[in-house]
Amino acid sequence: MFWARIMKEHSLFLQAGFLPAGECYKREADWYRRRWEDFLGRAVRISNGFLDEEILCSGEAVTEFTEKAEKQTSCLTGIRIDSSITEAECLLRGGCSGETDCRMVSMVRRLNSEALQLISGLIELKKNILEAVESCCLFTVNYPLLIRHIIREAELYEATIRELNETGYLSSACQKTMETFWNRIMMEHALFTRGLLDPSEETLIQTADGFAKDYKKLLEEAKKQECRTMDELTRETVEETVKYRDFKAAGAKGITECEISSLILPLLADHVLREANHYLRILGSKWER
Ligand SMILES: [Fe+2]
Ligand SMILES: [Fe+2]
Repeated sequence: MFWARIMKEHSLFLQAGFLPAGECYKREADWYRRRWEDFLGRAVRISNGFLDEEILCSGEAVTEFTEKAEKQTSCLTGIRIDSSITEAECLLRGGCSGETDCRMVSMVRRLNSEALQLISGLIELKKNILEAVESCCLFTVNYPLLIRHIIREAELYEATIRELNETGYLSSACQKTMETFWNRIMMEHALFTRGLLDPSEETLIQTADGFAKDYKKLLEEAKKQECRTMDELTRETVEETVKYRDFKAAGAKGITECEISSLILPLLADHVLREANHYLRILGSKWER
């Protein structure tokens, strides 16, 4: 549910970023957005009663801002967003009340193979867009850094589903590999957020710059560490990410309440907040919140 929603929104950000000359890319992004929306709706419908409470409480699937951010983004872009999926997600129950039977297993298998097809198509589209942008044949309001960033996120999702399909479970990646991936993602959020803020938002720009520098330092530190000596660095990463998540939550509130001047779509503000919530959960930092 986390990744399907992320992919649906990447498609929307791409779709919303083109001018009339980019119409064919816009249409393709719209096609993926609709497919992911349909996919997410089905994933949510079969998930009720099968979810880990920790995931439900983490704020990675939906946040208190998601519904409002969707409605505003829909008005601002003219792209229809099915908010009934978000409403259904807010009502999902956790625990293991549902019984896992053969029918459920085969439904999940089917969803996973469908996800793999959609992901590889969407990665190809993102790569084609990046190539056209970098050779100056295509204009979009999305930074090339943002496009490279969403390619890496989709590749991680693809690797996750592939592993689940092949082995039936997820091996825990080395802490250093996992933190390096997500610290870079957090650093890039800070970098493109600072670039999308209105130049008059000096304090927010300085704060975003500070986060980008902190994550850069954490990435440099991690290079010197072995996987087994990450404990101290993980503690620093958790502290930094709790602070950064709070900054993102304040940003999502400010943007949905029209108090921040920027080029940031409300749904992008909520999207990066959910990714920070996801990262905090996988860092195992429940005790920090
Ligand atoms: Fe993302
Ligand atoms: Fe991201």
